[in-house]
Order: sequence, then structure tokens, then C-alpha cells
Amino acid sequence: MTNAPDTFEGPQLDRVSFFSELDAASLQQISQAMRRRTFRAGEAIFHRDDPGQVLYVIKEGRVRIRLTSAEGQEVALAVFGPGDSFGEMAILDSQPRSADAIAIDKVEVFTLQRQDFVNVVREHPEIAIAVMKTLSERIRQANQMVEDLIFLDVYGRVAKKLLDLSREYGVETDDGIKIDLRITQQELASMVGASRESVNKVMGYFTDKSYISTDKHKITILRIAELQKRIY
Ligand code: CMP
Repeated sequence: MTNAPDTFEGPQLDRVSFFSELDAASLQQISQAMRRRTFRAGEAIFHRDDPGQVLYVIKEGRVRIRLTSAEGQEVALAVFGPGDSFGEMAILDSQPRSADAIAIDKVEVFTLQRQDFVNVVREHPEIAIAVMKTLSERIRQANQMVEDLIFLDVYGRVAKKLLDLSREYGVETDDGIKIDLRITQQELASMVGASRESVNKVMGYFTDKSYISTDKHKITILRIAELQKRIY
């Protein structure tokens, strides 16, 4: 049993972009209004169309924001980690949740009720600027996703995602750049908005051409330049 504190302490809360400009006393006030919750790996934090009354701030673990089609195909809109917030949209526009939030690993979050959030924003308008900045960044990423879905084929989208992942999680090895993250073809498919079958075909092609190799769900990029050429 860990002895986790059940408040988000001031020095940790200032890592949260929404609250990073606040002084220690204000952070303390917010942390007292927050409630701690934990989720197991794979557990749903909420589903699309659920009513939404709270904002979530992640203390530990990663959360996938995803949409699922009626046939069960998934697209991952974002993956959030410690210090990130989510669930702000339903709080701001009083609509239901716009997507599912699923715990990727064991997740610890702190929640803030809508009214408490509105109160702290009224007291500290700089939070509203930080929220708008985050929303702008998310729209930029969503635009990029739309652009990739329309202008790149599945080969291009997988190549681009592998290069993105190698920049974020890459470790140099003798063979090439190893992406230090266990990732299944289903997860990759959901990141690029394609079916598992088509991603399987692309990965087979990239492996046959020796652009990549895969070992225990970890991918190594052997020929970066060739993958780059697939993004057109
Ligand atoms: P909400 O609609 O309350 O619940 C789902 C949450 O996922 C949403 O708030 C945002 O916090 C987050 N979210 C929805 N769409 C995106 C997106 N395109 N990029 C990043 N985060 C998103």
C-alpha cells in the first residue's frame, strides 16, 4: 500500500499548465477543492456523451482520449500524462463529454467541480488565458490530424507517426533508433486513424524493405530517410 497524499500539493499543482501562473496561497486553495481518484489500466474514466461535471488533472499515469466508431474502430485524439488536464470542454460549454477518456496505465487524477473551477477562474482570470492557450494548441493538433487524414495515405501516416514517436521516445542503438515504448498494431492503428489490418500490411511492407524491425512490440527505425520519403 502506498501512502499517497489525497491532495495535489502546491508545488505539484504549479506543473499544471492551467495553474502555473498562480501563487502558493491560490494553489493551496485549489488543491483543497480537488478530490483524488484512481483508475486501473484499461479502465474508462468516462465515455463520450456522459454528462460532465468535473475537470481532471493527471498526477500519475497516461490517459487516452479516443473516439470509437459503431464498428469498434478507434481513433486516438490525444494521450495525456502527468500535469495535463482534460475534461475542460464539457465544463466550459455544458455539453456532454466529447470523447472517451481511458486509463492507459494505473492513473491517479484530481478532479475539480465545475463551480469550483468557475470560482477560481473568476478570482484568477489568468487561468482563462492559460485554458485558451491549451485549447489553441489542441485545435492546432486536431487540424494537423485532419490534414494528415486527408492528404496522407496509411503508409504516409504510419511513417509520420513512427518518426514522431522516435523523436519523443527514441534511443540510439547500433541498428538505428529504437522507440522505447511498447506499442501494439492496434494502438498504432488508433493513433493514425486506420484499421489494424491496414496498419499490419504497412508494417509488413516497412519490415520487408528493412525500414524498421520489431521485437516484443518495440519498433526500431533502421532507415529514417526511407520513412521520410513516404510522407508526401
Ligand atoms: P470533454 O469533452 O469534457 O471530455 C473529453 C475530453 O477530451 C475533452 O473535454 C478534452 O479535454 C479532450 N479532448 C477532446 N477532443 C480533443 C482533441 N482533439 N485533442 C485533445 N484533447 C481533446
